[in-house]
Amino acid sequence: MFQVNENYLKLPGSYLFSNIGKKVAAYKAANPSKEVISLGIGDVTQPLVPAIIEALHKAVDEQAVAETFRGYAPDLGYEFLRNTIAENDYKKRGCDISADEIFVSDGAKSDSGNIQEIFAQNNKIAVCDPVYPVYVDTNVMAGRTGTYNPTTEQWSDVIYMPCTADNGFAPELPKGKTPDVIYLCFPNNPTGSTVTKAQLQEWVDYANKNGSVIIYDAAYEAYISEDNVPHSIYECEGARTCAIELRSFSKNAGFTGVRLGFTVIPKELKSGDVTLHSLWARRHGTKFNGAPYIIQRAGEAVYSDAGKAQLKEQVGYYKENAKIIKEGLAGAGYTVYGGVNAPYIWLKTPDQMTSWEFFDFLLEKGNIVGTPGSGFGPSGEGYFRLTAFGTHENTKKAIERIKAL
Ligand code: MLT
Repeated sequence: MFQVNENYLKLPGSYLFSNIGKKVAAYKAANPSKEVISLGIGDVTQPLVPAIIEALHKAVDEQAVAETFRGYAPDLGYEFLRNTIAENDYKKRGCDISADEIFVSDGAKSDSGNIQEIFAQNNKIAVCDPVYPVYVDTNVMAGRTGTYNPTTEQWSDVIYMPCTADNGFAPELPKGKTPDVIYLCFPNNPTGSTVTKAQLQEWVDYANKNGSVIIYDAAYEAYISEDNVPHSIYECEGARTCAIELRSFSKNAGFTGVRLGFTVIPKELKSGDVTLHSLWARRHGTKFNGAPYIIQRAGEAVYSDAGKAQLKEQVGYYKENAKIIKEGLAGAGYTVYGGVNAPYIWLKTPDQMTSWEFFDFLLEKGNIVGTPGSGFGPSGEGYFRLTAFGTHENTKKAIERIKAL
């Protein structure tokens, strides 16, 4: 008789956003006349910009002609895309990253979930609390997290780094056990917080000193407005020997439904004599047949002059929403964080409500969907996340509704 991977059975409940999706669907089914506004999952609402649509059409036409038709993509990504990423995201920011250190994929969610495969089972992971649930859940599936304590909502073998209002939602360097793999996400999902370059440098120095690796999720870098916030971990000295960076096209270019991302692994990043680059290349070669040609051409268009100009406007549109939410809620007496360098606003729930109580309250009384902070970890209890990815119209309407509650 076959047996299942019992690590899956250890996972408490379902994936956060599936759980919310089910609750909202049930509410809508029971209240069909209500106009529900979603500021929950960070899914974009604006259409792909013209430069990207044009590139997509052109690539589709190429696939219709024998001379330009392409089959399997190179598993690490087409050079035209890797070269433009290296140039625009790294060289222009003074980061020493070459095209052959970039692995193109179908998105940062897959990469952030899969990357743990190249580490030993007994490696200890450290995560921020609250945290994007994928980092923890995928390590649970791999059997790396020990046992779950439903009271503390923590895993015995995970090092949690609380991110609270007291520390500005920036994790502190671990004082007890030394982690092998450290997950950091800045600008942060879910709190919308950031760290300065000097703060990030401390993490790089810590990782190099202790032989840890940092998995740096920079999916929201396009939302950075302040000068002292690093766009890439490779802006820090020494990051080439300790950091992997994950990037996404979802939030800067609206690719949530198109799917494209990439992971950077510098060749100096080693465990003994083994480069992580070689392991990830091996994994990619075995398990992945490359992101589609058409989509990689769309990704290339993100970096064209027209693409850059159009996307600056699109990101600006969402940033405007972040401002509307942040200022609207602050004006209504809420304590709000984030929203300046990130598309997420992190608010303190009113009247001592738990995160899920506030979720129900907002859904039932305001017909607004947000994300309960406790869904991201125990330190998120008493907080709530709203996303800036709605339309202007819905965002304004939602804030007016919250003010009227
Ligand atoms: C979120 O809402 O946290 C994100 O949209 C999830 C994701 O990017 O996978």
